[in-house]
Amino acid sequence: MNNTETMTERQRRELEYHREHAKLHKDILEKPFSFDVVTNDNRRWWNAHWEMYTYLMSKNLAGKNVLVIGCGFGDDALYLSKCGANVKAFDLSPESIFIARELSAREKLDIEFQEMPAEKMNYPDNYFDIVVARDILHHVDIPESISEIIRVSKPGAIFCFNEVYSHSITDRIRHSSFVENWLYPKMVKFVYGGKKPYITEDERKLTEIDVRVFASMMERPEIKKYFNFIVTRLIPDKFLFIRKLDRALLILFSPISYILGGRVLVAGELKK
Ligand SMILES: C[S@@+](CC[C@H](N)C(=O)[O-])C[C@H]1O[C@@H](n2cnc3c(N)ncnc32)[C@H](O)[C@@H]1O
Repeated sequence: MNNTETMTERQRRELEYHREHAKLHKDILEKPFSFDVVTNDNRRWWNAHWEMYTYLMSKNLAGKNVLVIGCGFGDDALYLSKCGANVKAFDLSPESIFIARELSAREKLDIEFQEMPAEKMNYPDNYFDIVVARDILHHVDIPESISEIIRVSKPGAIFCFNEVYSHSITDRIRHSSFVENWLYPKMVKFVYGGKKPYITEDERKLTEIDVRVFASMMERPEIKKYFNFIVTRLIPDKFLFIRKLDRALLILFSPISYILGGRVLVAGELKK
């Protein structure tokens, strides 16, 4: 159980936001859960989530101790458990953990879910073979979380993250008054289909500086790929052809993909 008294203000605000978020998404429990991303042999090279699993599954997950940080409704924990890993996962929000536990029980998977902050984990030192972070590092205090990730990982463990990203140059454009006051309000309906964007008060997209910090935790990143040049930024992600074209452009312009990309996938062996 989280001790809210020892939480930082940021953690408290994240907790409040995600409590409401989980309540709004309770209907997840009424829908079937798809394991497509780990069972389908036709891999989606243009999709960061699928590419993350293509990479993770190449690491023989069976029997490995795997940690999922900020697991939300538990999707990644379920996928990794389905691949045979011994999975532990945590999140700040008890409501999200409730959904994750229900889903894993329904799928008959044995996963240990706990409530705790990424900045202070209760796992032993040198325990995990693989640590997975998806859309969470931009919600946490980075130096504290890095120390914890390193502490709980075995020597030679793999760290893999898949996060929203913006180079400082594109970030400056995003925060210009033209984009914030004129373009963005007009784009919201088109890009998010009129839904309220899922953005917490404190979250900050990772920048090239953060990626450098996280990558410096690794001996040498085994993969570093950028996604979403215009998709999810200017165009919704529902047009398959545009998604493929978007990723193909980033591959073509790979030397500057770190400036153009809106999502980053990095993985490699941690230095210990
Ligand atoms: C954008 S969601 C991502 C959830 C999940 N990783 C996914 O990709 O579906 C961010 C999650 O981080 C959790 N969170 C925010 N701050 C956290 C912190 N300091 N420690 C642990 N979890 C945190 C939130 O409760 C939320 O479930």
